[in-house]
Amino acid sequence: MVTDLLPKAVRGGYWDPETDDELVCIDVHDETHDVKSFTFVSPDRKQFEFNAGQYFKFELGLDNEDDGRCYSISSSPLRKNAITVTVKRVPGGKVSNWLHDNLIASMAVRASGPLGRFVRPAAKKYLFLSGGSGITPLMSMARELADTAESTDVIFLHAGRTPKDLIFREEIANIARRVKGFRILLLPEDIGAERGWPGISGRISREFLFLAAPDIADRVVMCCGPAPFMAAARKIGVELGVPESSYLEESFDAVVIEEEAAPAGADAQTKSFNVQFSKQGKSIEVRAEQTVLSCAKKSGVRIPSSCASGICGTCKSKLVSGAVDMKHDGGIRQREIDAGFFLPCCSRPLSDLVIER
Ligand code: FES
Repeated sequence: MVTDLLPKAVRGGYWDPETDDELVCIDVHDETHDVKSFTFVSPDRKQFEFNAGQYFKFELGLDNEDDGRCYSISSSPLRKNAITVTVKRVPGGKVSNWLHDNLIASMAVRASGPLGRFVRPAAKKYLFLSGGSGITPLMSMARELADTAESTDVIFLHAGRTPKDLIFREEIANIARRVKGFRILLLPEDIGAERGWPGISGRISREFLFLAAPDIADRVVMCCGPAPFMAAARKIGVELGVPESSYLEESFDAVVIEEEAAPAGADAQTKSFNVQFSKQGKSIEVRAEQTVLSCAKKSGVRIPSSCASGICGTCKSKLVSGAVDMKHDGGIRQREIDAGFFLPCCSRPLSDLVIER
């Protein structure tokens, strides 16, 4: 539900992810022709504690309860009075279009967070790789490095469709000028109308990445972008010797959930439970070792999902009856659990269930 609401008097304190769930927009800023940044404060001006790379989940309640969307914070975690998210308009994208067309300063929205584990581990050298609006969590890291003036070794490669689509183009160039050891490479796929583009154009390739970072295998790689960009970058990274443990990526694309294999010899002994979805009028069998979401998806039951690992909260659903074994990772608050909600992506049935979906 979205309401007009002006910030109240400053009361201070810290935003509590367990109890706080309202943000007030204080600024809207055009970044490119189809990307805007929205800056929010808490209604009582609490400060935000988060790590660069984390995100907030916004629930606008436009048509129904299923329109939650996760947006990475693009602002620096050292500037605690406000958070900024940067959103690209997506053709047909209900939430991004609504934000672009309707959200103005003084309006309040429901949001939860900070969430997510795409956080910079301690390392001597990094390679930031971003495609399109995937730059947002990496921009938060870049701004943090600029704020701390930390001595660093970062190569930041940002790709976009054309030069005019390169988000934060001026600002990251400025950071690269100011922060020692911070280098920026911009890679438009096509130079578009900018005939004087001074650099290389094209898609990310093995040759380009090796030229950009010959020591890539010694760097922690942090990648965020559209699925094809991330798949290409990962493949090249592996070919160039980046160890799995040094490669981190972030995506909010819906994941494909593989059904868990049944343990050997389990057929006869494994218990199955009946799980009913009251709104969709469907009922399925779920084995004790399977997650509710994986079986629901395979059976055509509609449950929104994103991370599939109990982090983002997208699949949160009301458990009308029954008991589950839930192993979440911060995607649900204790008060929501107390109110009867659970996360089907990381819950296994302990009894027959009725779910309000
Ligand atoms: S899909 Fe992210 S918590 Fe369930």
